[in-house]
Formats: sequence, C-alpha cells, structure tokens
Amino acid sequence: MIGDATVPVTITGLGAYAPERVLTNAELETLVETSNEWIIERTGIRERRIASKEQALTDLALPACETALAQAGLTGADIDLLIVATVTPDMSFPSAAALLADKLGAKDAGAYDLSAGCTGFMYAVVQAYGMLAAGLANRALVVGGDVLSRILDWNDRSTLVLFGDGAGAVVLERSEQPGFLALDLGADGSGGEHLWLPGSGSRLMEGAEKYAKMNGREVFKFATRILVKSAEDVLARAGFTIADVDVYIPHQANVRIIDHATNKLGISSDRVVINVDRYGNTSSGSIPLALAEAQSDGRLQPGNLVLMTGMGAGLTWGSALMRWTIGS
Ligand code: ACO
Repeated sequence: MIGDATVPVTITGLGAYAPERVLTNAELETLVETSNEWIIERTGIRERRIASKEQALTDLALPACETALAQAGLTGADIDLLIVATVTPDMSFPSAAALLADKLGAKDAGAYDLSAGCTGFMYAVVQAYGMLAAGLANRALVVGGDVLSRILDWNDRSTLVLFGDGAGAVVLERSEQPGFLALDLGADGSGGEHLWLPGSGSRLMEGAEKYAKMNGREVFKFATRILVKSAEDVLARAGFTIADVDVYIPHQANVRIIDHATNKLGISSDRVVINVDRYGNTSSGSIPLALAEAQSDGRLQPGNLVLMTGMGAGLTWGSALMRWTIGS
C-alpha cells in the first residue's frame, strides 16, 4: 500500500536508548571463527550494544519513551495510543505495549504490539498516522526496539556479528503544518524463509529452532532492491525527487546495503545517516536510533525533508517521507 498523508500529522518528540554494554568485533573473534577485518569489510559494523541479563525490551524502551515525551512536552497520561513494534517483546503476553503503558502512566491508552520484523517501526508509524488522521487517537507514542541478542545463536557467525540491541520512540500528534507527506508499506511472505525464527509460535516452539536464521545473500538482494524502490515510490507519490531530500535514514543493516541504495538513489553521502558501525542492526530500533542521533548532532533541522525506509523479516518494507517540524 502507498498513500498521500492528507491529514497533517507530525512527530513532536523523539528519544532513543541503547544498552551500555559494548560488544566489539575483537570480542566476537573470541566467540566464533570470524575477524574484525571480515566484519568491517562485509558489513561496516565495528561494535554493537548488548542488553544485560536483567534488561528486557521495555527496559530499553522506557528511557526512549521518557525522552520523546519530554521533548513533546507531554507525560504518559496524555498518550491515548501506544504501539510497540518488536519481534522480541518481554514475553508473548502481556504485550510490551501494555507493560510500557503501565510504567508510563498511560492509563487511557490503547496499547498493543506490532510485528513486522525490522520494518516494525515504519509499520507502527504508518498505523499511528492512520489512527490520528481518522480521529481515533489524539497523541500516539510509537516505539521501535528489539533485544535481538536473546534470539541469536551465539555459535552462528553468519548472524551473530550483524545484530545489536536498542530502542527508540516518537510521539505523533495532529499538527498545523503537515509533517508526513507520503507513506508506503509492503510485505512479501514468499521470502519469509530467508529471515525467520522457526521455533517461536504455534507451528513449532522448541529446541534449536528458537534462534533466528538467515539466508544472507537472499536478504541482501532483497534489501538493495527494496530500499531503492520504496524510497522512489514515496518520493514520486509526494511529487519530490531525491535531490529534494535533506536527510535520508535507511534501515541500518549493513553499510554495503546502505552504500548501494545511496548510489542507486543518487543522494550524496553527507545527507545519509549511518550509525550501524556503532550499533549493528537493531531491527525495529534502527530507524529511531538513527533519527535521534541526527537530531542530537544537529543534522535534523526544522523544514528538512526527511526520507526513512525500513526493510526486514516478512519480507517487509516501509517508507515515510516527511517535513521535520520539531523546532519550527
Ligand atoms: N566471519 C567470517 N566469515 C564469515 C562470517 C563471519 N562472521 N559469516 C559468513 N562467513 C563466510 C561464509 O561462511 C562464506 O564462506 P564460504 O565462501 O566458505 O561459504 C563467506 O564468508 C562469504 O559469505 P557470504 O554470505 O557470501 O558473504 P556476503 O558477502 O554475502 O556477506 C552478509 C554476508 C554480511 C550476511 C551479507 O549477505 C548481508 O549483509 N546480508 C544481508 C543481511 C541483512 O541485512 N540482514 C538483516 C536485514 S533485515 C533485518 O534487519 C532483520
């Protein structure tokens, strides 16, 4: 699906949090047969953050939400919709969203989790947009985050080196000026077998199948194609070209994938946000973590045209094109 965002809705608050524990490539060399050189050359990743034993998803999400709410000038009690995009909730139920709503004092919020792999954050943003545009909610808190370290096989070098833990959150509200301009979501379940957690549901829930598995080459091919296509689709839909984009935030999976998309789209590297080198692929945390970094280092300025594209398990994808309105 793709559509124009005809009702003015924007992001009014943004926050992110990653656990303190840094896991370097050098440490990974002691765990599996890999090398710092291989990881950097194939992925661009130098280190990633790993949650402590005590930290579950909502523990990472909570500080991100508090920062986002503070920037929006709100408290949890003002939120009437809370969506958590994740594939690693604290547990299957109760939902991470219900637990977070309780911690934040969002007593009147409809709260639920959403599963769309690494594209979860984009899916949740689009869904919150729809709820606000329809008048079903007034202030939405959207969280994207994952603790992928819990579902990785720590003996499998083909996945272990790629991922990290982290979370981000945004507040969405109706606005005077349009923030969101065009939105795109898609899914192709025929590629589901390329990135999956087989032993995690009603088909199977056991043993060695409890770890994430990936066909890296197939995901790579999908990622390089879809990042470009989805971005071009939202730009065309809203009547812009890539030359108009000030800040491009692609899913942070791999620097080679990002470089490929950047070259194909024809956007200069100074307008591309990359932090995968320091966080690895944090799944649903990836785009809000990168957004928050761009905000804190001053790259995100009011009036900027911002393009975000996520992709991941499903296989899924999603893009949002928006005017950045915080600070205007
Ligand atoms: N260290 C050293 N060697 C390794 C490692 C490692 N960590 N992992 C794999 N290798 C080996 C392989 O076994 C293979 O050896 P072989 O030739 O003897 O069989 C060799 O390196 C090359 O493997 P390839 O898979 O061809 O390497 P490639 O250049 O494709 O890079 C990678 C692999 C990095 C996984 C790449 O395919 C990729 O980035 N894919 C997309 C991954 C991704 O983005 N996933 C998540 C997206 S969606 C989401 O965010 C959930």
